[in-house]
Amino acid sequence: MKRILLMNGPNLNMLGIREPGVYGNDSLASIEAEVVAYAEGRDAAVDCFQSNHEGDLIDRLHGAHGHYDGIVYNPGAHTHYSYALRDAVAAIDVPVVEVHISDVDAREEFRKVSVFDGVVLAKIAGHGKKGYLEAVDVILDR
Ligand code: DQA
Repeated sequence: MKRILLMNGPNLNMLGIREPGVYGNDSLASIEAEVVAYAEGRDAAVDCFQSNHEGDLIDRLHGAHGHYDGIVYNPGAHTHYSYALRDAVAAIDVPVVEVHISDVDAREEFRKVSVFDGVVLAKIAGHGKKGYLEAVDVILDR
């Protein structure tokens, strides 16, 4: 059975409360449950992790080395400035699919920059919560 890590970065624990016009009404827990069920339907197992702390996210990425077939990762605002997280993604042998619920290219200028460019397998943005399921497909269809 393939194993996937679903990671969400800062402020994504506030989904459902946070700017629903941008990020929708679903809580992170309900999105995680959907991803787990979807992956199960494709014979894959998903572990979920969310943190607001850069170091904890780096540690989780390091711990993923050799243990997962892929990582579905929404880095939140870290996307736009965390070279430490970019380096952590580059340091491991696990393919990472970057996901953004909103269309980051159609928002403020600073959101158009992703420090993960060049180290992720693919980037999915602006597809709402479906983007997480599409990222699972990208990993399982490799
Ligand atoms: C986000 C987009 C980021 O710019 C923002 O900082 C987030 C969420 C998204 O899912 O659309 O926290 O990654």
